[in-house]
Amino acid sequence: MAELAIPDLSDVLAARRRIAPYLQPTPLYSYPALDALTGTRVFVKHENHQPVGAFKVRGGINLISQLGPDDRRRGVITASTGNHGQSVAYAARVFGVPAVVCVPERANPVKLESMRALGAEVISHGQDFDDAREHCEKLAAERGFRYIHSANEPALIAGVATCTLEILEALPDADVIVVPIGGGSGAAGACIVATAVRASIEVVGVQSAAAPAAHRSWRARALVEDSTVTLAEGLATRTAFELTQRILWERLGDFVLVSDAELTHATRLMIEKTRNLVEPAGAAALAAVLAAPGRFAGRRVAIVCSGGNISPEQLVQLWPAVPAPS
Ligand SMILES: Cc1ncc(COP(=O)(O)O)c(C=O)c1O
Repeated sequence: MAELAIPDLSDVLAARRRIAPYLQPTPLYSYPALDALTGTRVFVKHENHQPVGAFKVRGGINLISQLGPDDRRRGVITASTGNHGQSVAYAARVFGVPAVVCVPERANPVKLESMRALGAEVISHGQDFDDAREHCEKLAAERGFRYIHSANEPALIAGVATCTLEILEALPDADVIVVPIGGGSGAAGACIVATAVRASIEVVGVQSAAAPAAHRSWRARALVEDSTVTLAEGLATRTAFELTQRILWERLGDFVLVSDAELTHATRLMIEKTRNLVEPAGAAALAAVLAAPGRFAGRRVAIVCSGGNISPEQLVQLWPAVPAPS
């Protein structure tokens, strides 16, 4: 297979023009309570305010808006733990394209319901994202859909990179951008924009230590597999992907791991201090800053709140149940 092209800033600017009719810029807010907790200036990029509650929809709109008539007629298929699938389902609905999303069994019900409401066919298969992905790749070949890989897609990366354009417009003197990593499209997009705008901006990736394939691949400069047992389904992948890793190998400033206990704590704090619904992957950037306050002290730190699609069951696990009033 030919090597995929790495998108550049002009691709991201073109993506912004394509998504502008469909998606509003999201807010970047600071919260004194988070500054006090982290000991630095923290700015939260609220991608949980997207219409599907996650940053991924920027990529879905950018990719599907560019499909030719043949692909649109055949329809698209993808694999997802939920947010990328919602992105594809949302964009497919906007452009009148049939969509199939393969998800792992026991996927987050909030995300499943959203994908179905958007009109996608949802197929449950396997224990985790990579089981669903392999099944999806088989179906794509059998049924002739346009397969949308969740990471090896330049148009998805250019689309999600528009998030970083907005951050740097709102906060031109940002020193650091902290981005959660699963397959790596969000962080790859952040690296493309940050390095083009100002080389001194550091992009820091964060992944769960309970799903460290991308982190290990970044360190080894080779694609390696690992297990995935994290509660943050947005970060849960057993494998790493070629295109996003190539970008991260070249341009990511640092890559840190946080424990699931740290993710849980950060999720609670994000909900309490910002009064937003935040899913565990969406709190990973805060967890990274809380885990190493000295590293970020005195710097202006943008943290990407990548998603807010927490399920009622996950919320109950964050706070012990209180008895209902009698
Ligand atoms: C909420 C959330 N944050 C972060 C990620 C990781 O993004 P990426 O796969 O682009 O690294 C995902 C992926 O689905 C997600 O849903």
